[in-house]
Amino acid sequence: MFFSDKAEKMMQTAGPIEKNILPHLLHITEAAATAAAYEIGRGNKNHADYVAVEAMRRILNQTNINGTIKIGEGERDEAPMLFIGEKVGTGNGPVVEIAVDPLEGTNLAANNINGSIAVISMAEEGGIFHGPDIYFDKIVVGPEVVKYERETGKQVSIDNSPKENLNILSEALKKEISEINIVVLDRKRHEKLINELREAGARVSLITDGDLMPGIMTCVKNSGIDAVMGSGGSGEAVLTASALKCLGGKITGRLVLPSVANEKSEEEIKRELDEKLPRLEKMGIKEKDISKIRDTCDLVPGKDVIFAATAVTDGPFLKKAKLLGQGDVQLTSITMGSSGCVKIIQSIYISDKEKNPIYL
Ligand code: FBP
Repeated sequence: MFFSDKAEKMMQTAGPIEKNILPHLLHITEAAATAAAYEIGRGNKNHADYVAVEAMRRILNQTNINGTIKIGEGERDEAPMLFIGEKVGTGNGPVVEIAVDPLEGTNLAANNINGSIAVISMAEEGGIFHGPDIYFDKIVVGPEVVKYERETGKQVSIDNSPKENLNILSEALKKEISEINIVVLDRKRHEKLINELREAGARVSLITDGDLMPGIMTCVKNSGIDAVMGSGGSGEAVLTASALKCLGGKITGRLVLPSVANEKSEEEIKRELDEKLPRLEKMGIKEKDISKIRDTCDLVPGKDVIFAATAVTDGPFLKKAKLLGQGDVQLTSITMGSSGCVKIIQSIYISDKEKNPIYL
């Protein structure tokens, strides 16, 4: 079989959401990234987030879907827009569940630091985890590790020691531990993890924010990122899982209350639990199940999954949203679907075709 036959088969195996909605997804992240681009470097992360949310919601509501936000800006009483449970879209189109982060890395955008993106994923009904807005303590790895796990039965796990996980990564990736690079959010709560990884011989790249894109990079050959470890937003984890479903990687971990992860006092932990438990129970998560191990398919059970991200500031392969003058903008995005089709797209929006040459 020639490659072209395979590509054509993939195009045919794409589900209805990938075939019909994926092309429109790009406009949604592009709108959010464009709005956020005007806020890059202004030092106001809340406003940057606000304009990205507004823009994303505007375009979502013009899209022919019957959508429900499953991962959004927070609970209905906390977030005025794109709250969990909000119905979005024109209502004329497929029923879809949606995870959004209109501006992932608000600090990064506000301070013009690399790594902020506008991001969305969708899947069929029941396809996206209806989860609380807490942390997810995770390990993210790429497809080579998944293949090795399938062949040997060995598994990276949040219950393993960092050293045990590094041994598996080393065997799977055919690298010495000293060649392995793990991305971890630079937080006090990760001190022990960082020390253990370094003591075991691995290299650790600390990031100030934005642990979603590094998760995707584990699926990119020779990206230099072998795994992402540590706790970050659960919404980011679900969005990462959507991309991994398209790329063949894996996320595994468990939900954790921020007060627990950040080692707050017993009193603060109890207060957070009392506040969040009723919501968790409404979502079908009992107290004893909070710390259950969840993996890619628990976070994104969907079969027809689509994902798009547009860069706000520069990223590993996505170039920052550039304001070209007179309202014109140049954007780079990545889209993918569970058929395995990945596209990197550069868009240029020109307001006055006669006045402005296109910038390639
Ligand atoms: P925001 O975009 O909401 O600012 O989140 C950025 C982020 O760094 C995520 O990438 C990460 O998962 C999470 O925050 C970590 O949360 P915390 O800052 O509480 O450690």
